[in-house]
Amino acid sequence: MNRTFLDACRGEKTNYTPVWMMRQAGRYLPEYQAVRKKVSFLELCKTPELCVEVTLQPVEILGVDAAILFSDILVLMEAMGPSLEFYEGVGPVFLDTVRSMPAVERLRIPDVHDELFFVIETIRLLRHELKVPLIGFAGAPFTCATYLIEGGSSKVFWETKKMMYTAPATFHRLQKKITLATIRYLQAQIKAGAEAIQLFDSWAGILGPQDFAEFVLPYVQEILTALKSEQLPDVPLIYFANNGATLLELSAQSGADVLGLDWRVDITDAVNRIGDKVIQGNLDPFALLLPEKQLRQRITAILSAAKRAKGHIFNLGHGINQFTPPSQAKIMIDAVHELSKEN
Ligand code: CP3
Repeated sequence: MNRTFLDACRGEKTNYTPVWMMRQAGRYLPEYQAVRKKVSFLELCKTPELCVEVTLQPVEILGVDAAILFSDILVLMEAMGPSLEFYEGVGPVFLDTVRSMPAVERLRIPDVHDELFFVIETIRLLRHELKVPLIGFAGAPFTCATYLIEGGSSKVFWETKKMMYTAPATFHRLQKKITLATIRYLQAQIKAGAEAIQLFDSWAGILGPQDFAEFVLPYVQEILTALKSEQLPDVPLIYFANNGATLLELSAQSGADVLGLDWRVDITDAVNRIGDKVIQGNLDPFALLLPEKQLRQRITAILSAAKRAKGHIFNLGHGINQFTPPSQAKIMIDAVHELSKEN
């Protein structure tokens, strides 16, 4: 069992810097596309044997130091009531939006072992197969809420901010309900065998620090505190607020053991501000397109800046793009291992 990733999460010294990639199981891999030809994305998410297969792909093909459960942050939202579709070229669409107090009250807190059994089963099956740690995950309540309120992906988040500013009680109630559902969901993932948890806050960066502190952080803290309970195995908790450079000090109060950094923040600056935390990141996913020499220089720069932090897990600053050649990802992963051993 390769425990390097877990040791790094705890700030312990490791022989090399562990590396994984957000969205490492996905469309850039021809092996993933071959599976997706047979089933829709949601069918794939709900078929444990196929989830296991695509979770293992990047571990076997690329040699990453951690596996991330194959699923989607939105399957929990679907289990709360609203029906979800994924349209090719569009992304996720919720047919019923959640924009009023009655709509919030209609949301259910799902029984994980019933409605989300496929996720729990995937985790159990994976633990028999894996030689690297398994990361479970959920969306952070704010990011999940934007999808329910907007009815899908958005660029301006008009409806979300309208609810925050004109109906704050409705917004807080929605956040609270998603928080309660997420706590149960992640507790079940940990009990089933997830060895670390990442909370994805992909849209936190659309808020300034004041609104982040009021509308986002308390719910993230509530989730992370509930996962540190004595009734559960003690697993490292990672909080990734995308576009969160202005929110780092606040994110450091989230209760997470590890903070994910997107590529927009200078890593030396991040270490100066929150270097008492373990950090994860932060290569621009598009830097994988650089010629090998320049790619290695970028990796060296990140590794050397991160040395002053409590600990470092190498990752991209967001998900790998679907058009990235897998061979470039392999160059990156091998280079992280090689270059971090040298120093
Ligand atoms: O990281 C992994 O390899 C594990 C699997 C994973 C997926 N989604 C699979 C997926 C994880 C951790 C996610 C998280 C997720 N899902 C986030 C947070 C991280 C982020 O990217 O910011 C968000 C916002 C979603 C919601 C979502 N799912 C969107 C907006 C889309 C459509 C956009 C897109 O990239 O296509 C998805 C679809 C999705 N989730 C795919 C995969 C592999 C592509 C679906 C396909 O095969 O057609």
